[in-house]
Amino acid sequence: MRSIDRRTLLRGGLGLVGAAALTACTTRRAEVPSAFVSPNGAEVRAAEARRRPGAIREFHLTAAERQVDLGGTTVSTWTYGEQVPGAQIRVTAGEVVRARLSNRLPADTSIHWHGLALRNDADGVPGVTQQPIKPGTEFVYEFTAPDPGTYWFHPHSGIQLDRGLYAALIVEDPREPLGYDAEWVVVLDDWLDGVSGTPDEVLAGLTGGSGMDHGAMPGMGGTPSPGTTGDHMLMGARSLLLGGDAGDVRYPHFLLNGRLPGAPDVLRAKPGTRLRIRLINAAGDTAFRVALAEHRLTVTHTDGFATEPLEVDTVLIGMGERYDVLVTLNDGVFPLVAQAEGKGAAARGLIRTGKAAAPPIDARPAELDGAIARYARLRPAPAVRLAQQATDRTIKLELTGGMMRYDWGFNGRRYDPKVIHTIRSGERVRLSLVNRTTMWHPIHLHGHTFALAATGLRKDTVNVLPNQSVEVDFAADNPGLWMLHCHNIYHAEAGMMTLIGYQT
Ligand code: C2O
Ligand code: CU
Repeated sequence: MRSIDRRTLLRGGLGLVGAAALTACTTRRAEVPSAFVSPNGAEVRAAEARRRPGAIREFHLTAAERQVDLGGTTVSTWTYGEQVPGAQIRVTAGEVVRARLSNRLPADTSIHWHGLALRNDADGVPGVTQQPIKPGTEFVYEFTAPDPGTYWFHPHSGIQLDRGLYAALIVEDPREPLGYDAEWVVVLDDWLDGVSGTPDEVLAGLTGGSGMDHGAMPGMGGTPSPGTTGDHMLMGARSLLLGGDAGDVRYPHFLLNGRLPGAPDVLRAKPGTRLRIRLINAAGDTAFRVALAEHRLTVTHTDGFATEPLEVDTVLIGMGERYDVLVTLNDGVFPLVAQAEGKGAAARGLIRTGKAAAPPIDARPAELDGAIARYARLRPAPAVRLAQQATDRTIKLELTGGMMRYDWGFNGRRYDPKVIHTIRSGERVRLSLVNRTTMWHPIHLHGHTFALAATGLRKDTVNVLPNQSVEVDFAADNPGLWMLHCHNIYHAEAGMMTLIGYQT
């Protein structure tokens, strides 16, 4: 581990602040280690050139405050375009995404392209890989999308992703090996924005930032008074699958493709259709257990990367994770149910291949209690296995903190941009994730798809259960400064984030 001055980081990474920082701290220049590859450095450009950028595909996104109909309930929220989720971006592997973001929000923003091994300066982390995008300004992201798969994007600014700012990013394979007739992109979310408060109010309640004394916070023993921040805190949500506490936040709604269960998104197809479902969990604080009534699911991908096919009844998806499944559709009307794990509610969509009446809104497929796609049962497809290489370096990270102080962090510390875990290009790096807390955490690494040490399963987000350890390996082949953090957005914002930097 290595510490550098924050201004060094900014000077290295951000051309715009470079000049100002240089004049501001000339006396300290001598002690400035030029230790890390900067996000717009030559190494990053060289890595991008090796991706052999193909045709440019242009997209324009506008982040703005909007009224959105969730299916009978209209909310005021922040969106990309006029809809939740935002319009999907779909390109072919090797193509270049050129996405212009216009920020019409009342706050700074950014976009992170979750799961892609992209050029570091397009990674969208304000203060690390770019300047925050100010209200009324624009920013252009341009990067090659190297690997086919199911990805998504969201702001990397505070807890904005717990509003309506998220959408799917699908990278198609020019030589798609899977045979299927139709595709359904399914984005899951937990929702409270504009209904019971805003994510900022939730965070204030969780951290005690509203000035309340923690001991007296409503919802922690006192009587919750509706409309107060403490009302958002969820206590006693338990899940065996998650090994304990399921989540921190009480949500009034759970959405599938931006729709409430009573007015669901409907996929229409013919019986016998072979359907690929791309499941994405865009929630802030909720894992989903997903099943399709009267069908088994064949898992084909996790986090964009192919697995050996595995037939299951249900999958558990933590925040930030994706699963692709194949299913051959029966004749009828079938709910796709995403149970908000440990929270006593669900999101749902419908698949309609026949004329039957829709099942009742609270129908719970028996498949939810069937065979589950545990990590231990999944294997990577041979083509995506990491090449054999001895471990050059192990970074041990204890997951620490708790609900009472809301001091989530790594190794007992909250996020500090001066703390950068050093790696070198070409190394095989092992992350040893040791959960010392009483809660599960979906840990996400930017810019790389690691392999679970136990099975080789390729992922970019891994759920680490209470009192468990997970080891993952990655090839250090994408120079830059990269975030590693919990994808519970409230945990991340409270401090469960850290940086990994490539040494120059
Ligand atoms: Cu989807 Cu840094 O996260
Ligand atoms: Cu967490």
